[in-house]
Amino acid sequence: MGAQSLAMACGALALCLALTGAANPGVVVRITQAGLDYAHQQAITILEKELAQLKLKDISGDSRIRHVGKVHYEISRLSLRSFHLPHSRISLVPGVGLQVSISNAFAEVDGNWRVKLLFIRDHGSFHLKVENVYIKVNLKLSSNGSGKPTISSSNCNTRISRVRVRFSGRLGWLYNLFHSTIESRFRKLLESKVCEVVASSVRKNLQPYLQTLPVTARIDATAGIDYSLVAPPTATAQSLDVDLKGEFFSLAHRSAVPFSPPPLALPPDHDRMVYFGVSSYFFNTAGFTYQAAGALVFEITDSLIPKGFDFHLNTTTFSAFIPQLDKMYPDMPMKLRLSAPSAPFLSIGPKGLSLRPVVDIQAYAILPNSSLVPLFLLSLTGNVSAVVDVKSGHVAGSLQVGRMKLSLKHSDVGTFQVRMLQSIMNIFSSSILLPNLNERLNQGFPLPLPDRIQLSNILVRFYQNFLLLGADVQYQPR
Ligand SMILES: *[C@@H]1O[C@H](CO)[C@@H](O)[C@H](O)[C@H]1NC(C)=O
Ligand SMILES: *[C@@H]1O[C@H](CO)[C@@H](O)[C@H](O)[C@H]1NC(C)=O
Ligand SMILES: *[C@@H]1O[C@H](CO)[C@@H](O)[C@H](O)[C@H]1NC(C)=O
Ligand SMILES: *[C@@H]1O[C@H](CO)[C@@H](O)[C@H](O)[C@H]1NC(C)=O
Repeated sequence: MGAQSLAMACGALALCLALTGAANPGVVVRITQAGLDYAHQQAITILEKELAQLKLKDISGDSRIRHVGKVHYEISRLSLRSFHLPHSRISLVPGVGLQVSISNAFAEVDGNWRVKLLFIRDHGSFHLKVENVYIKVNLKLSSNGSGKPTISSSNCNTRISRVRVRFSGRLGWLYNLFHSTIESRFRKLLESKVCEVVASSVRKNLQPYLQTLPVTARIDATAGIDYSLVAPPTATAQSLDVDLKGEFFSLAHRSAVPFSPPPLALPPDHDRMVYFGVSSYFFNTAGFTYQAAGALVFEITDSLIPKGFDFHLNTTTFSAFIPQLDKMYPDMPMKLRLSAPSAPFLSIGPKGLSLRPVVDIQAYAILPNSSLVPLFLLSLTGNVSAVVDVKSGHVAGSLQVGRMKLSLKHSDVGTFQVRMLQSIMNIFSSSILLPNLNERLNQGFPLPLPDRIQLSNILVRFYQNFLLLGADVQYQPR
């Protein structure tokens, strides 16, 4: 595509950034060496089981024994009794990916032998010990066209430096004379097989598991979160960093976000297994999506007023502040419609998370035939701070409201002193709106985690433009 047609196709700048991949991530997942070590432990247990199920084909051939002559041998029913991987480690290879090195692995193999030597035909069983097995393999992480993580193995190398075979049986001593032939064939056979098992285990187990990362997580009837990878994961000397889009989108109609993510500079912390850098962009796309979908609307009627408040939401109550109301609409129930005229904008700094939402409050009288008559429109602004927590793999939060400021935007009932409404509106916002909002925020939004992962030992810190969540990980086997 030419530059001109690309520019035309892009249209909106935000969309252009998304297409060219120049955008900063909305969420960064950082896996530290501690996290890699944990994942490695789980993977090695699986690999050990798969290696123990390795199928080896029969071996046959001829060997010459000095002073005796040519022996024809057949080795069959080879069966691995065990494969142990006691020493292994995973390391970061900056710019490349990960490297797994396994040393001093050992295995035991049983099998049957059959020998033809001159006029002797003999058979029996044998036991073989394989020791000092070294395996080295690189793991390369990337992402596919849909932003799903991918993993593949490369440069696999297996070296076995010790194989010992013992033939048992009447003439065992004789056959043990050509053990080196068997051992070297066996070593080659096993060396070629181990890397096949490693590659297939990565393909069969690791890749499908990584792809359980929900790159698009539906969260409710309105929105989803896009957690697709915006670039292949990068390995540095300290960690594996995965940049995710981290963006809310409308399920009904996805549109380009009219602002872009700020850069995130994660601190070099490494005592937790995993860190999530959650940009203010993530939260602001939530606000943008819910506001655009018309979901930031909340209606208060008399039935929502908590017990214990000794008043009703009606024109009699309000006529204490707006005397003319009683004459215009005597003793009629009222309704308040709270809505966000624009998406709430949240900022994150070292002191925490704060937002200054603007809430429109439209008051109505409800006529006997249920029609609504608009009375007045107020604007409520205030400083809101948020507390953030992580619960069952979700970022959850709750808002705390500071002092609120009320102003009149429009009145259909003549003038009145807005200041007088301050305390009653405080009750509506702090005792009705806020608990409802916090109940939703308390359920949280899912973090990008593959299946069966539990987080513990949570840490929450604030930095310029992002929230840092640290955690240790526990994998729950099925
Ligand atoms: C990426 O991988 C997922 C899961 O395997 C698959 O559904 C999707 O089609 C892949 N996307 C591309 C472009 O290959
Ligand atoms: C309106 O509110 C006042 C005081 O809160 C209450 O005494 C009155 O019964 C209410 N009227 C209706 C129709 O609910
Ligand atoms: C309800 O009553 C008001 C005033 O009596 C009237 O103007 C309005 O048209 C009525 N609405 C409906 C839907 O009947
Ligand atoms: C909110 O905070 C800003 C800056 O800290 C301050 O100027 C403003 O007066 C505060 N608003 C209210 C309603 O307290």
